[in-house]
Amino acid sequence: MPSEPKHRAGLSAASLGSESPNGHPVSGSNGRETAAKDGLDAFLGRWKAVASDVEATLVAAIDRLGDDCPARLREAIAYSLLAPGKRLRPILCVFACEAVGGDSQAALGPAAALEMIHCYSLIHDDLPAMDDDDLRRGRPTCHIQFDEATAILAGDALQPLAFETILRSPLPPHAAGEACLALAKAAGSEGMVGGQMDDLLAEKRDSAAMSLDEQKRWLDAIHRRKTGAMIAASVLMGGIAGGATQEQRAALGLYGRAIGIAFQIVDDLLDVESTAENTGKATGKDSVRGKLTFPTVYGIPASREQARQWVSQAIDAVAPFGEAAFPLKRLAQYILDRSN
Ligand code: IPE
Ligand code: IPE
Ligand code: MG
Ligand code: MG
Ligand code: MG
Repeated sequence: MPSEPKHRAGLSAASLGSESPNGHPVSGSNGRETAAKDGLDAFLGRWKAVASDVEATLVAAIDRLGDDCPARLREAIAYSLLAPGKRLRPILCVFACEAVGGDSQAALGPAAALEMIHCYSLIHDDLPAMDDDDLRRGRPTCHIQFDEATAILAGDALQPLAFETILRSPLPPHAAGEACLALAKAAGSEGMVGGQMDDLLAEKRDSAAMSLDEQKRWLDAIHRRKTGAMIAASVLMGGIAGGATQEQRAALGLYGRAIGIAFQIVDDLLDVESTAENTGKATGKDSVRGKLTFPTVYGIPASREQARQWVSQAIDAVAPFGEAAFPLKRLAQYILDRSN
């Protein structure tokens, strides 16, 4: 068993850097700096408040499981789902809903559902048949804490629970249907699961036999689906919950796809540059497993530059929302600067 994790999930002023989205330093004594710091504090406060609403929605979904759910299965679901993750996808969903003028409460069902699918994907990703990891969110992975069969079943159970959570939420039926469809597409064989399949197939491929162009094409397609699809869906589902227009959805789509790729590039970089203490999961494993990653294909500086460019595109994409885009812009910056 690892010792008590030092890693802390979520946002901190440090993880956001020392500048406001307008480029103003957040520490200082003049009026403009104080205003920027107030903006950052308000943003961090909002993140915490949303995370706490999401937590309550996740707990309520587990509490609703009846006596037919075996205690061991419920325990494994709660163990993984309530572990200290960043809750990035739910936060994106709620912030996107608010950016288009919606009420955050409308986004909570879809937000919780996104976290459930994400959590199932992590439980299965960690299994010996996939990445074979022992540490997740600073704790033993589900199959280490319980056993492989229980971990597989906990992941299986989280999938229908996600759709049930959307359908039980107060969203009008048409929006609930649209949110379910967006989630199904992102999670399925053309999305996250498809990306995971190719991620594993790429481990087995002899990369020396692939041209650099072919490696880049594979890599883009893997990251766009295994991670990007769920992140893009988080933003789109927030838009759906908030009643976004087609124009707003298009802008959210550009934003979501861009930060989705950036997020996985940074994940690849953290595997090389960070520690288990910071990330709450084993690091340095991608190259050992022969994964196709941004640092292996492009090198570290070019990977960071690509992540920066994607984030910059994302920030530009939500410019039409004006002031309401502030949290989404902040989140995009966080995705680039994060340390866990
Ligand atoms: C980890 O996702 C898996 C990837 C898609 C890279 P997160 O980094 O969002 O994990 P948690 O939810 O904070 O644990
Ligand atoms: C996993 O990517 C993405 C999904 C779980 C869908 P990784 O395998 O790189 O994620 P980590 O690094 O284990 O969190
Ligand atoms: Mg993986
Ligand atoms: Mg993994
Ligand atoms: Mg990784």
